[in-house]
Amino acid sequence: MLKNKTIKNLPTHIGIIMDGNGRWATNQGLPRNMGHKEGINAVDRTIDALIKLKVKFVTFFAFSTENWKRSKDEIDGIFNLTREYLKTKKDKFINRGIKLTTIGELSKFPKDLQNELTSMKKETKNNDKIIVNLALNYGGRNEIVRAVNNIIASGKQTVSEEEFATYLDTTSIPDPDFIIRTSGEERVSNFMLYQMAYSEFYFPSVLWPDFNERHLRKALKVYSKRKRRFGGIK
Ligand code: IPE
Ligand code: IPE
Ligand code: MG
Repeated sequence: MLKNKTIKNLPTHIGIIMDGNGRWATNQGLPRNMGHKEGINAVDRTIDALIKLKVKFVTFFAFSTENWKRSKDEIDGIFNLTREYLKTKKDKFINRGIKLTTIGELSKFPKDLQNELTSMKKETKNNDKIIVNLALNYGGRNEIVRAVNNIIASGKQTVSEEEFATYLDTTSIPDPDFIIRTSGEERVSNFMLYQMAYSEFYFPSVLWPDFNERHLRKALKVYSKRKRRFGGIK
């Protein structure tokens, strides 16, 4: 049994770059999509653990603007698994106080998946136990360029940093305090470029489908010891 010891200094918002699904499947001699399937189970487990720990915001990087480079089979598989997850967990989200939000350009996704996401966002909009934010067809550069184009379209000549942030997809979400990328890769791959200005990073070698509460607690303990300075002196 895991000891439910309180961890001090929890981040308000954790960003998770879920990496290693493909390698996990290959290691087991399975098709890549089996890795994505197990990856979704890890998402659900992580949400439960974060609720217990009382972390308020989590963003899961689920599909990047560059992931369209993968095979149609893999992409369709990811869409099917996401669709199935949303359908089977809808009641859980509603009843357990989980609010669903998304970032990224959803218009490129299959219409029925867009509808499912819209309906779940609507039905969970008053929940406030945890905000589960899914980054879908998300890229930091794409988000920044869309923001700039919307500013131009609004006719504004200049904007402040505060105003600029309101044009990003993350308007209602604080910047991530802590970013975890699994699988040992140490790069950001176009995740939350603007918002990560002062994020703390952690790169455990565990492959995402194997990620569990023990890995999460270890990560949070590492975070709790970090000294954040935001450019000042402490
Ligand atoms: C992350 O796992 C999931 C997505 C990017 C959708 P990968 O599919 O990138 O797994 P690896 O990196 O090939 O092992
Ligand atoms: C980053 O993982 C994107 C997601 C986790 C959705 P990738 O596997 O796509 O990133 P690279 O290609 O290794 O940088
Ligand atoms: Mg990868």
